[in-house]
Amino acid sequence: MNLKKIIYSTALLGLVFLTACTTPTEKSDPSHLIKKLQPIVIQGALPIETDRLAKKLTNPSIETLGGWTFWKGTYQGFPVIISKTRMGMSNSAAATALAIERYKPIAIINQGTSGGHDPNLKVFDVVLGKYTTNINAFKTPVLPEGAGSNSLAWTEAFDVLPEDESDPEPIAIRKFAADQDLLAAAHRVKHLYTKGKVVEGTLGSADVWNNELDRIAFFHKNYGVSAEEMEGASVAQIASQFNVPFLGIRVLSNNITNNGKYDSNTGKAVQDYALDVAIEYMRTKQAE
Ligand code: 5AD
Repeated sequence: MNLKKIIYSTALLGLVFLTACTTPTEKSDPSHLIKKLQPIVIQGALPIETDRLAKKLTNPSIETLGGWTFWKGTYQGFPVIISKTRMGMSNSAAATALAIERYKPIAIINQGTSGGHDPNLKVFDVVLGKYTTNINAFKTPVLPEGAGSNSLAWTEAFDVLPEDESDPEPIAIRKFAADQDLLAAAHRVKHLYTKGKVVEGTLGSADVWNNELDRIAFFHKNYGVSAEEMEGASVAQIASQFNVPFLGIRVLSNNITNNGKYDSNTGKAVQDYALDVAIEYMRTKQAE
């Protein structure tokens, strides 16, 4: 055997050995097939909105920044980060800015529970936020001392992110539109959600849990709100300034407009659906 032949047969043997060793693991983990995508961030405010997702990740590692927890891992080979934002507008804004700076995500899904403003929606129904809007930004009417305060008379919404930054009193209802590709992915997999219906609507956010039926009707009528929560508009506001695609996905955990009692199991159901949406979105981005 000459030297050329020896080198050739050794290389061939090595290749056969390598193939035999790697094939079984590669079949169960398709990550070697996948174009390198930036991770998708899936946020939830509470443990009941994030625990199930975090447990589904493959090879998860935890990162804590300030009071915010992030689980980094993969799901079906795609990079996914689960973010527990904690409740409310400030927490969710901070968690979003941190996630964007640190992980440079391909997109952000803010998901979780919500309270219905639409009497036609039941507990376990899901609202895809075609729009997300802040329902706690107003310029109130001028009233003298002793005249009290009537929030139903607060008809001027305050836009905290106006195009014209020189205007100190920008009056407008500011709605953040969902990313079209995320919304389309959500529609493509909505048949996988079997616990209720999935509809498009406007999500309203505030550091307020509204229980006054007239005020809820006000937002339903004037802002077109289908369900309220405490984070989405804040996340959308930050994501928009970084040009990161955003979608809010909220299950109704309660709806006092039709006596829909609070059910914490809704938090589990929406996590499964949000993950399906995220993976469907990643698949399309991989194929692009
Ligand atoms: N009003 C406001 N927030 C609600 N949430 C669930 N239901 C409601 C409701 N009716 C969500 C918020 C917050 C936590 C209280 O649950 O987004 O994170």
